[in-house]
Amino acid sequence: MSPFVLTRILAEDAMEAALRADVRHGLTAHPKTLPPKWFYDAHGSDLFEQITELPEYYPTRAEREILLEKSGEIAAALPARTLIELGSGSSDKTRHLLAALTSLETYVPVDVSDSALAQAGKSLVADFPGLDVHGLIADFTAELSLPDTPGPRLLAFLGGTIGNLLPAERAGFLASVRAMLSPGDALLLGTDLVKDEQVLVRAYDDAAGVTAAFNKNVLTVVNRELDADFDPDAFEHVALWDTEREWIEMRLRARSDQSVKIPALDLAVDFAAGEELRTEVSAKFRKDGVRAELASAGLELSHWWTDAQGRFALSLSTVR
Ligand code: AVJ
Repeated sequence: MSPFVLTRILAEDAMEAALRADVRHGLTAHPKTLPPKWFYDAHGSDLFEQITELPEYYPTRAEREILLEKSGEIAAALPARTLIELGSGSSDKTRHLLAALTSLETYVPVDVSDSALAQAGKSLVADFPGLDVHGLIADFTAELSLPDTPGPRLLAFLGGTIGNLLPAERAGFLASVRAMLSPGDALLLGTDLVKDEQVLVRAYDDAAGVTAAFNKNVLTVVNRELDADFDPDAFEHVALWDTEREWIEMRLRARSDQSVKIPALDLAVDFAAGEELRTEVSAKFRKDGVRAELASAGLELSHWWTDAQGRFALSLSTVR
């Protein structure tokens, strides 16, 4: 009897098909876009881990501080028997929560990366004896059928990754989260907060150039998976703050006129010098906005915790 089970919901060929569809759709659109989920191959995941340690990139440290300081209050508010975590990655920060949830029986980490899940699962069962870990290899933006585990269930979506979704996508995502929960269950949501523009832009355009490398890595992914011939050095990393929409945008700006061949799609994509490809939106939030978006999905905000500097928030919301 093993306490660690890994289930693949997402077929490898479904991933491949999704990448093809996203690249074809995004690179033939005006303006050109690529969805941020394709940053995270093994190298991109490694670069992201490096980003979380940069002096300019505060969200991970701020959220870890909240989890360290407030996990007791979170556990008291929702003494979960099951914790489900969407986009769990290394499950590193979650350990504070796992330690505080004394009634917890099952942890269900959900991630697209099988290697991250396998590694996290192995070390978690060693450190939390008696905890059942049931990892799911799945895309959190797709429909999820969760294992039948005991309630109350706490569904965690940390890191501020909800900010990568556009407003309409967020509404759909929160509605599907609501549909996964029953009365008595709750959502623990991490959201980065609106703050000084300089601080925000620096967090996405660091002095060491790690975020620039992370941004360009998406081109390397397309080269490898679809046989394309992007020259990452022919693009410049751009991070800007959209004051109206209150989000950071990352873009790749073509340094010269160029044509990129994508044989797997039988496609050639032309870039004019200075043309920009949008690779990520990272929305920043305010408490009233989070409350309103949750309410539209049938969830009621019950708790709001921030780090001491008020940079990042964790909210707990319950099914109405
Ligand atoms: C992992 C989605 C939370 O949007 O801040 C970091 C990804 N992009 N630097 C974010 C990211 C550029 C990150 N999330």
